[in-house]
Amino acid sequence: MNQKIFPADFLWGASTAASQCEGAWNIDGKGETILDHMTNGDHDHPRRITNKIQPDVTYPSHWGCKQYERFEEDIKLFSQLGLKTYRMSINWARIYPNGDDAVPNQAGLDHYRKLFQCLKKYHIEPTVTMTHYDIPWNLCVKYGGWSNRLVIDFFTNYARTLFTEYHGLVNRWLTFNEINFSTVSYGECVTSGILPESGKVVMDDPNASTEVINRRFQALHHELLASAIAVQLAHEIDPNMQIGCMQTGFTFYPLTSAPEDAEAQQRDMEIWMYYCLDIQCKGKYPYWVKRYFDSRNISLNICDGDLEILRKGTVDFISFSYYKTDCSSATVKGNPNDWAYGAENPLLKKNDWGWSIDPLGLRWLCNDLYSRYELPLMIVENGIGEIDVLEADGSSIKDIGHIDYLREHIKALTMAIQDGCDIIGYCPWSAIDIVSAGTGEMKKRYGFIYVDADDFGHGTFNRIPKESFYWYRQVIKSNGMHLEWGK
Ligand code: BG6
Repeated sequence: MNQKIFPADFLWGASTAASQCEGAWNIDGKGETILDHMTNGDHDHPRRITNKIQPDVTYPSHWGCKQYERFEEDIKLFSQLGLKTYRMSINWARIYPNGDDAVPNQAGLDHYRKLFQCLKKYHIEPTVTMTHYDIPWNLCVKYGGWSNRLVIDFFTNYARTLFTEYHGLVNRWLTFNEINFSTVSYGECVTSGILPESGKVVMDDPNASTEVINRRFQALHHELLASAIAVQLAHEIDPNMQIGCMQTGFTFYPLTSAPEDAEAQQRDMEIWMYYCLDIQCKGKYPYWVKRYFDSRNISLNICDGDLEILRKGTVDFISFSYYKTDCSSATVKGNPNDWAYGAENPLLKKNDWGWSIDPLGLRWLCNDLYSRYELPLMIVENGIGEIDVLEADGSSIKDIGHIDYLREHIKALTMAIQDGCDIIGYCPWSAIDIVSAGTGEMKKRYGFIYVDADDFGHGTFNRIPKESFYWYRQVIKSNGMHLEWGK
């Protein structure tokens, strides 16, 4: 790779999410959130929601990687890494502790102001997700989360506060993390804030009733409206403010060459990817939605003016996460406990948590999205969860698996740019080791920086750059030209 491929202003970055990294769950006036009520789990045992915080139960969000108190140290390390952007999220309950409060919590506002000023000092631009898999607990128990239309008003209030308060410090916003996950039970819980009856946070329940499915699509409709309102609000405050959507980058291949599998693939891409993207980028429900709703007995309550809001609130760019790909089949079903349960691809290797590894799929997805929407693309999550081991010297971590995974994905990105896709940034998951969203484990590590902590919050929480840190620093410094390591 000797040619210049990445534009000079390419946003090399890295990502985190508040509930997974901040900790300090009940500090400085912050309210409780749904994640604060979520226990740890593992690949075979789903996380649980407890109605009360119980003293003998593990809730990983209560410590995360303790970034709330160590953000200056972390940002200094990010600067040494060479990050151009830090994709992070704001915890809604730090700003509005109950979600429906009349006035914001000053200590929460001050915290993020200090954090953004610190980023500015190190010339790192923030890319800020307004809500990343979390919601104030009060909105869940009092209103039923996003199933209640009133939550749109609370979110609008929150959005207005963020845009005015941080105007000049934050220029790039994402509304909802992985909004297209809201129609499966995991997303219904963590994004839509609808508490699972069983108390278990499972990925999906293929036998969900029509009523439940309807409720999920209705909540998603409210989220899409809130997102569109936020886009308009941001542009009213400052037309230069960039505001994007954020999707799980689902990518499906037909399992076989059977035409029925190709059809299944089209149906999967429609519902998992294009449903939200059509609304957020084109400003309208897709043409096939009636057929889909009729087939599942879904009937949405759409009020006067809703479609106009969606039409006017289209985003400036598309951001998405990309971890794995799946297969679509007319006959073979996947495992509902997997993240986007497609049928397994027999040709791909998997990580320890069963996620397939498919760099080329990233090129495919970039092309697919760019050809459909012709909007700039930003990859805001990409990475592999691994068990990293601190070497006997106590100061090094040879995480070659992360380097291999990311290098191959950056190569795919290079090809997508050469194909002609407008890709503005790339933020691997994650900047630093943080708690896993799916399992609540700390040992499922993605970061460039190792954090000395275990699954139960024990450890010094000291930070140690991993080998991938030095590799990624080289990648950023060379603007994507030097991808090999140790050769
Ligand atoms: C993404 C989420 O889907 O996947 C992140 O936006 C999450 O919050 C990431 O951490 C990786 O998933 P997990 O379960 O391995 O943490």
